[in-house]
Amino acid sequence: MNILGVSAGFHDAAATVLSSQGDVLFAGHSERYSKHKNDANFCQGLLDDILPYGPEHVAYYERPWAKQLRQLYSGQGIEWNKLTLGQVLKTQLGGWIEPTRVSSYSHHLSHAASGFQTSPFDRATVVVIDAVGEWETITIWGAEYDSTGRAIYKRLWQQNYPHSIGLFYSAVTGRVGLHPLDEEYILMGMAAYGNPGTSELMRMNLVQDEWEIRFKENLHTGLDPKYLEHFSNADLAAGAQDLAEDLILNVMMRARNFKFSNNLVYQGGVALNCSANRRIGNYFENIWIMPCPGDAGSSLGAAALAYGQRVNWTSAFLGHDIPGAYPVNLLLDNLVTTGIVGVASGRAEFGPRALGNRSLLADPRGPDIKDRVNEIKRRQQFRPFAPVILEELVDQYFIMPRGWEHSPYMQSVGHCRSPELYPAIVHHDGTSRVQTVPKDSTSGIRELLEKWYVMTGCPMLLNTSLNIRGEPMVNDRADADRFEALYGVTVCS
Ligand SMILES: [Fe+2]
Repeated sequence: MNILGVSAGFHDAAATVLSSQGDVLFAGHSERYSKHKNDANFCQGLLDDILPYGPEHVAYYERPWAKQLRQLYSGQGIEWNKLTLGQVLKTQLGGWIEPTRVSSYSHHLSHAASGFQTSPFDRATVVVIDAVGEWETITIWGAEYDSTGRAIYKRLWQQNYPHSIGLFYSAVTGRVGLHPLDEEYILMGMAAYGNPGTSELMRMNLVQDEWEIRFKENLHTGLDPKYLEHFSNADLAAGAQDLAEDLILNVMMRARNFKFSNNLVYQGGVALNCSANRRIGNYFENIWIMPCPGDAGSSLGAAALAYGQRVNWTSAFLGHDIPGAYPVNLLLDNLVTTGIVGVASGRAEFGPRALGNRSLLADPRGPDIKDRVNEIKRRQQFRPFAPVILEELVDQYFIMPRGWEHSPYMQSVGHCRSPELYPAIVHHDGTSRVQTVPKDSTSGIRELLEKWYVMTGCPMLLNTSLNIRGEPMVNDRADADRFEALYGVTVCS
């Protein structure tokens, strides 16, 4: 019986299909089909990709009634059409899928399972940090498999709404004029330009207890527009990043103190903060963050809980398929002649990062490439681009923090050894969000990098997501054609 994991109804709707042997047959995001960023609901295109798998068991990523109760408490009101699992699934699946079995799991347990059951570990300390789901905002778990191979989760600690690192970060995101629950990654990029001194003021005004992660006020409703009004947005961003990192590390220290395992599985939207992630290797020996750690990834978590055992994790390329061989030679030709090329080939990435199948790639050398890519993507000049590099050579080009020698999903920053040679992929603070591609990878991007290295002596490329401004990442060939027409950049399939 194939299992469909569903994360939908609030933001970033996503679906995962697991086989009865634990293979991930499909995992994708609704927004890539509907073109509505952070689309909360399933759309027909996504359903069309799921239907051929004929899932019979549907697993939902949170408890609807508990979520509604918390929303009532937090003044958001009750959504009467989302009170029961039956109502939610009827809205999302619209009669296209008629399951013979349904189940639901708590929001944070789904996060935990999406990480632990895809991880290489037999036993792990699991940390989940997000904004809020039902009531929990931070949980720490001890996870292991029993003698029958069944995943067991023991809850070790939790913090509840409204005390939330994610809500704090989102409140500052809103305070600087960005969109909360969407543009936190832009706040993180902005932080490099500011003075983190504001963190002390934020700590005094907002935090009641740093160790227990308790705040003085409910930040769910945002910060006063005049909060710390004499400081620049960059200073506020730097302060928020600094304080958030300290709080995250307090959670990591607490998690380590349980002495359950030196393997860390880290999930929840806050796990996308790659600047903070560089410091967590100081607390655990091995780290696994599933490449889609936010709520969308919990579609996989719910399906994994329904399945019960270790999931066969192979790669993040799990979404919509554009069939055909990876166009390595075409890409090389374009890179050599114009320096910039798009690629839309194979299965789309599950998670927010383009990892080589829906990417805009560029030669990272030279002073003008960053401006050229920024012009194509029409995005803020201060935002950095990421490098993708042959993993065995990463040490020659970057100083990676402890625990991040392998960074296949672009989850931590490192320091570039020669920023003057590669200005396009180095941020204002000297960091780069590095993606390493291991030798045993069978991905097209690995073959491309190998050939690019032979041709040029440079083992890396600039890698940014292939998307039209204001839209989610390119999904199918029609999207790629629109990208080509709008921006005049060849997109190879
Ligand atoms: Fe969450």
